[in-house]
Amino acid sequence: MPGHSLNEPDRDLDASHMTSTRDPADGHVTVLLHEAVLALNPMAGGIYIDATFGGGGHTAHLLRHEPPVREVVAIDADLDATVRSDRLRTIPGNVDRLRIVHRNFRDLASVVANEGLGPADGVLLDLGLSSYQLDEDKRGFSFRFDAPLDMRYDQSAGATAGQLVNHESEEELARIFWSLGEERQSRRIASAIVRTREQSPIETTGQLASLIERTVGRRPGSAIHPATRSFQALRIEVNHELDALAEVLPAAVAALAPGGRLVTIAFHSLEDRIVKRFIESQSRTCVCPPAQPVCTCDTIPGLRRIGKPVRASAEEVGANPRSRSAIMRVAERLDANGRVASRGSSL
Ligand SMILES: C[S@@+](CC[C@H](N)C(=O)[O-])C[C@H]1O[C@@H](n2cnc3c(N)ncnc32)[C@H](O)[C@@H]1O
Repeated sequence: MPGHSLNEPDRDLDASHMTSTRDPADGHVTVLLHEAVLALNPMAGGIYIDATFGGGGHTAHLLRHEPPVREVVAIDADLDATVRSDRLRTIPGNVDRLRIVHRNFRDLASVVANEGLGPADGVLLDLGLSSYQLDEDKRGFSFRFDAPLDMRYDQSAGATAGQLVNHESEEELARIFWSLGEERQSRRIASAIVRTREQSPIETTGQLASLIERTVGRRPGSAIHPATRSFQALRIEVNHELDALAEVLPAAVAALAPGGRLVTIAFHSLEDRIVKRFIESQSRTCVCPPAQPVCTCDTIPGLRRIGKPVRASAEEVGANPRSRSAIMRVAERLDANGRVASRGSSL
């Protein structure tokens, strides 16, 4: 595994590695495309849930898999992403094999019930935001454009980043910047925001980015914009990303058939920690106190971990810097007795 910290800011928001001429039509470069689809272990006639459709890269690869899977149910909270799914209708043999659902994946249990889905053979979570969202000037995810501070994946619901910035208490803003962005100057930034908004509201990405830059300055020699961590923190808070992840994981396991695979790709250490701990807790065969000499708990594990965490290769990172912080984890649903369900494996 490459030796860099998982705690670095999400490089999606670091404009330094991107050319400003990048055309939104370039779309999203899927991270760990082959690795994730291989890890899902696609079965002929299988049902797969891509809970983060985005640009549809993983879904398209699944739909092209031979022998063919039966269906991919693709979910995205962003209506723009689901609209893009039309492009995938042209994949040969894909007339009826793609179902698109505009929902938050935290509602996975009700999506499964409403759509009448049978047990799934794989669930994929490729977390965070897509390049489409980052490159769409009006969405307010990036300070490369001066746009209203929105940052919601689902623009039909919830508070915008602007509402948080202009109405949250100074303490709460400092907590957001510190705990979700690991921003060491969180208090100074929160204080500067509150002083500024007393004069007039902070309405755009450009206003917020330059306020942060004026407050903390640029670190000498650093290519990372000083607002990077704060923008990342706001995005995670606006979309309740950590809560949604904690909610979808048990729902994903419940949606899986025995032998089905859960594949996650995280870009932030807090997300990865939630996934890691969840898989560990679901894989436990005993939860008795450590001092107890004999196990009496009869715990039946629900999952087994498959392989080690996977990082993007140096080649992929070279071609797509966004993949640098990605970490993929894979687990397999066990049967009702906590045993491995027999089916072939590609990983
Ligand atoms: C990294 S992109 C996925 C890219 C995709 N795998 C591809 O190959 O194009 C993440 C997508 O997940 C969506 N998303 C993030 N959090 C979500 C949530 N809680 N519920 C539903 N969709 C979510 C975002 O809107 C975004 O489109």
